Amino acid sequence: MNNTMNPSGSYRITSINNNVEMEINRLKAQVDLFWPSEWQHYQAHGLAGAGNIIELGSGPGFLLEKLLTHIPQANVTGLEIDPLLVNYAMDYLKKKNYGRWQVYEGNITQTGLTDHTYDFAITRLVLEHLTDPIEAVREIYRIVKPGGKVIVVDNDFEMHIMTYPSVPGLRELYDAYCEARFAEGGNPKIGRELPRILKEGGFSNVQFELISAHSTILGDEMFFQSEGVGIPYKLKQDGYLSSKDLGKISVGWRKMVQDEQHAIVRQLCLAVGEKVE
Ligand SMILES: C[S@@+](CC[C@H](N)C(=O)[O-])C[C@H]1O[C@@H](n2cnc3c(N)ncnc32)[C@H](O)[C@@H]1O
Repeated sequence: MNNTMNPSGSYRITSINNNVEMEINRLKAQVDLFWPSEWQHYQAHGLAGAGNIIELGSGPGFLLEKLLTHIPQANVTGLEIDPLLVNYAMDYLKKKNYGRWQVYEGNITQTGLTDHTYDFAITRLVLEHLTDPIEAVREIYRIVKPGGKVIVVDNDFEMHIMTYPSVPGLRELYDAYCEARFAEGGNPKIGRELPRILKEGGFSNVQFELISAHSTILGDEMFFQSEGVGIPYKLKQDGYLSSKDLGKISVGWRKMVQDEQHAIVRQLCLAVGEKVE
């Protein structure tokens, strides 16, 4: 079994999935899947009126694209540690002709950016992969303007995909995923801890909410795209998941989808904090 604590955390695009292109497509589908619910939450916290927004851990740039499309007055910055993804995001956004954006290579725990710069900072599906998420939140606190806000979105794998009818083996899959990420220094159950982490990082007026996606409303295809088989196969390859459990899940998943009344539900945790000085 691969048990290598990684000082930079538990997400590397080249090792979390067997195929980088497949993983990039999965990240895009995951942005699209949650966007209708996520955007409502973002608006409720005033993001639509922001002038200067940063996303830290911006990956291939799909959330940056949503922000540029939906907030026409905003200047949007991405900060990303992986040069492969920085280049991907820059190529992707250049083709869209938005202007108003920049993507920097950098570490969320030490951004090198100027104090008190951003009205809003967003970090999405990143803190769950870090060995020291509070250090990252303190750095975000430093670069947000007084009166500005942070929005943090993360998984809590105790409540990952739920289906009707239930799929035997899904729990084993999520336990295997958690074991792999914990071994690398991440925390795939960080969702429930987000309010405390924001407070310890300096933020006040902290709120906690759930973002949700449901197949009866959004259709099945977006769930298929945002889950995929790449991560389960990698978990099997790395010795975290047995072939028997993987087989059980694929048979059970197919049966579930064939049920006329089937449902697939997924939730993400969102916490918001304000910089009050
Ligand atoms: C699961 S992806 C999420 C990407 C994007 N936020 C989204 O929601 O689609 C996590 C991203 O965080 C980046 N990342 C991980 N550790 C980081 C760090 N210390 N500083 C900046 N980015 C980091 C990864 O390279 C990856 O692009």
